[in-house]
Amino acid sequence: MRRFKTTIVGAGNVGSTLAQRLVEKQLTDVVLIDRVTDRGEGKTLDLQQSAPIIGFDTKIIGTHEYGPTEGSDIVVITAGFPRKPGMSRDDLLKTNVEVVAEVTENIVKYSPDAIVIVVTNPLDAMCHTALKVSGFPKSRVIGMAGVLDTARFRTFIAMELDVSVENIHAFVLGGHGDAMVPIPRYSNVAGIPIPELLSQDRIDALIERTRNGGAEIVSLLKTGSAYYAPSAATVEMIEAIMVDKKMILPCSALCEGEYGIHNTYVGVPCKLGKEGLLEIVDVRLANPELEMLHRSAAQVREQSAKVDSMLAEMAALRKPSKKK
Ligand code: APR
Repeated sequence: MRRFKTTIVGAGNVGSTLAQRLVEKQLTDVVLIDRVTDRGEGKTLDLQQSAPIIGFDTKIIGTHEYGPTEGSDIVVITAGFPRKPGMSRDDLLKTNVEVVAEVTENIVKYSPDAIVIVVTNPLDAMCHTALKVSGFPKSRVIGMAGVLDTARFRTFIAMELDVSVENIHAFVLGGHGDAMVPIPRYSNVAGIPIPELLSQDRIDALIERTRNGGAEIVSLLKTGSAYYAPSAATVEMIEAIMVDKKMILPCSALCEGEYGIHNTYVGVPCKLGKEGLLEIVDVRLANPELEMLHRSAAQVREQSAKVDSMLAEMAALRKPSKKK
C-alpha cells in the first residue's frame, strides 16, 4: 500500500514540532526540509532515535534539497521568519513573501498534485502568495489560522469557567491576528451558548486575549513565537484531509462570493477532505459581525495587493535584461 507523504518546509520550532507530532501519531511519512544545511537532517536524526522509545515506525527524512520531497501528498509551509517582540505580522510581509514564493516554486516542481497548508505569517497574505505562485486551484491552498485562534479562545473559556476544554466549541472568523472575528453566540460549552454563561464584559476580555494570543506568547518568549498550539492545529487539518473526514474547521480559504467577500483569503468555516478544501460553509451572520468580517477582509486585500506588486517586482528582476 502506498504510504501517505507529508513534506514540512522549515525545520524551525513549528516545523520540527509538527514533524514530531505527525510521526509519533504514525499518521504519515514526513520529509523535513530547511534551507539551512543539516538543520532538517539533525532534527530528524534525533526524532528517529526517539522511535524505539516512543514506538513508531513512521519514516522521516531530513534534507536541505527538494529531491526527497518529490510526490508529497501534503506540503506544509512553515518556512519564514517569526515575529520579534514589538514587530507586527505586517512587518514580516516582504521577507516572507520572498520565502513563500521560492518554496512554492519548488512545490510546483516536485509535488505538483500536493495540497498546500500555509502556516507562515502574515498568514492570509502568504496563502495569497502561494496560490498566485503555484497556480493551484483554491481547494489545494489553505491556511492554518482559525483552528489555532479557536483553540486559544476555547482555552480561555475553559480557564474562565473551570470546565474541560473538550466541552467547548468556539467559532472564530476573519483574518488571523488582530483582525480575527470571534462569534460568541456560535461558541458554546456543552451546547450552551457562552452569552448564557458569561457576562458581556468577561466575553470581551476573553476575545481581547484571544486576539492578542500570539503577541502575548511572543512577548513572554522574547525570541521566537508560538509553536506547540500552531503545530497541533496543523495536525488536525492534515488528519481531516488524510482520512477524508469532511470535518468543518476554521481555515483561511479563498472566498469567491461567500459572506459577500470576493477574491480574498480570510478565515471561514471549511469542510476538509481528501481533495483539500471541499466547501466553504456560508453561515448567516448578524450585520455587526458581517461588518467586522468585511473590515478584516479589507485588511487582507490591502496586504494581498502589496504581495501582487512584490511578486511583479520579483518577476521583473528575474527577466534577463535585453542587450543593445
Ligand atoms: N526554505 C526553507 N526553509 C526556510 C526558508 C526557505 N526559503 N527560509 C527560512 N527557512 C527556515 C529557517 O531556516 C528556519 O529553520 O524556516 C525555519 C523557521 O523556523 P523558526 O525561525 O523557528 O520559526 P517558527 O517559530 O517555526 O515559525 C515559522 O510559522 O507561526 C508562523 O509566524 C510564524 O512565520 C512563522 C512561521
